[in-house]
Amino acid sequence: MSFDSDEFRRALGCYPTGVAVVTALGTDGARLAMTASSFTSVSLAPPLVSFCLDRASVWFEAFQAAGHFAVNVLREGQARLADDFARIEGGSWQGLDAETWRTGCPILKDALAAFECRVHARHEAGDHVILVGEVLGIASDGDGAPLAFFRGRYRRLAGAD
Ligand SMILES: Cc1cc2nc3c(=O)[nH]c(=O)nc-3n(C[C@H](O)[C@H](O)[C@H](O)COP(=O)(O)O)c2cc1C
Repeated sequence: MSFDSDEFRRALGCYPTGVAVVTALGTDGARLAMTASSFTSVSLAPPLVSFCLDRASVWFEAFQAAGHFAVNVLREGQARLADDFARIEGGSWQGLDAETWRTGCPILKDALAAFECRVHARHEAGDHVILVGEVLGIASDGDGAPLAFFRGRYRRLAGAD
């Protein structure tokens, strides 16, 4: 390998992403939530999306055991929420408006978009597992702006090019 992990991270950070809070209902009934920037659209028909789950995460076993997950795409101004749900102790649900649809996965009512999914496949991928979800339900706000993530920092989208 002609690069080290810092160089690899630096190069990966050049690819801007959105930020999501992935949620699930634990087998014990507890609400799970984890900030993730690895959300990706996968297939239109059937409707599939994915995110990558770090094997080293405290949430790994719980998300692996869940049969469903929901992806809540964060909007501009929700950086604090993203940081909160990236903490090892877990984020706080206090003051958060959440609802459930079909599967019991928490859906954040203030999200820019939400995707409720049934786990379609789990793919081993190095130190992560790729969780592919079949989308069962969606919601989206056609007007709002996303929270963006670029070079390790939260950003606002600039205007059109
Ligand atoms: C902006 C951002 C993006 C993240 N994206 C992912 C991701 O795609 N997959 C993942 O497993 N963890 C991701 N994380 C880390 C998890 O949120 C974090 O690992 C988890 O909440 C638990 O903390 P721990 O890693 O200390 O166990 C991200 C964190 C941040 C702040």
